[in-house]
Amino acid sequence: MQFYDILDDMFKDFEEYKDIHKGKGVRGTLITTISPKSNKLAAVVEAIHLASLLHDDVIDEADLRRGFPSINAKYGDFTAVMLGDIIYSRAFYELIDFGEKIAKTVSNAVYLLSQGELEDVNLSKEMNLDKNKYLNMIYKKTASLIEASCKAAAVAEGLNENDFGLYGKNIGIAFQIIDDLLDVTQDEKTLGKPSMLDFKEGKMTLPYIYLYEKLDEADKEKLKSLYKKDLSETEKNWIKNKMNELGIISKCYSEAKELVENAKKAIQKYNIPKLEIIANKIVDRKF
Ligand code: IPE
Ligand code: MG
Ligand code: MG
Ligand code: MG
Repeated sequence: MQFYDILDDMFKDFEEYKDIHKGKGVRGTLITTISPKSNKLAAVVEAIHLASLLHDDVIDEADLRRGFPSINAKYGDFTAVMLGDIIYSRAFYELIDFGEKIAKTVSNAVYLLSQGELEDVNLSKEMNLDKNKYLNMIYKKTASLIEASCKAAAVAEGLNENDFGLYGKNIGIAFQIIDDLLDVTQDEKTLGKPSMLDFKEGKMTLPYIYLYEKLDEADKEKLKSLYKKDLSETEKNWIKNKMNELGIISKCYSEAKELVENAKKAIQKYNIPKLEIIANKIVDRKF
């Protein structure tokens, strides 16, 4: 079956096979930047990330991924869940070869990521207005694997894993804040995945938490009435305009920028310009 051939290639070498992912490859690029010899580890982590997206698109009922119909949209939820399991299992099998320390670092991140996804689902049952709950959840679902990628690559190079972990944690949180912002500000074509889907799915991301805080009483009620609904273009524009008017978009951007600055500070002394470029790109991106 063609899938298993693609699967084999996915696990071989990140630099050589990164095109088959069609994604940004942030985690893999971080690993090979910190540890150029860790191409295979990069491939394994990208595969893990892909598995998490297969499950994520089922959970979020998303029909588009990386500019293509999602696996759940094309083949159904059962197939997407099981392909995710196949990729995860293969990834854990491959991880053993990197030694206990790296295997534990990465597999623990998958444990956290899965908890983060569950927390995301639980937080979307009703309008979450608690910023700390949001930040804790995005640390787990997104930053933990980015943090682990940097830590594991540092371990492979005999570098200080805490410095690189701190860098990864900070850019990871910034990455998800920007992902949540782009859901509001960008269109589907640019993103390669659905836009304005989070609020419909009940996800009170940072821009929505801040929006609710800043709206007057009447508009708070209006926002509540739109929560989890299929929004018309007019309603979508109302949300976007309010976010712009109230300075929410720029507030979220500055918070993400601050995290990126903290990240850069954590690894400043190693003088690896590419890591600074990657950190800047996290905030300064269109998709
Ligand atoms: C979860 O976040 C992504 C994972 C870490 C699995 P989102 O649900 O916001 O991700 P997108 O927007 O679908 O890529
Ligand atoms: Mg999603
Ligand atoms: Mg999700
Ligand atoms: Mg998103």
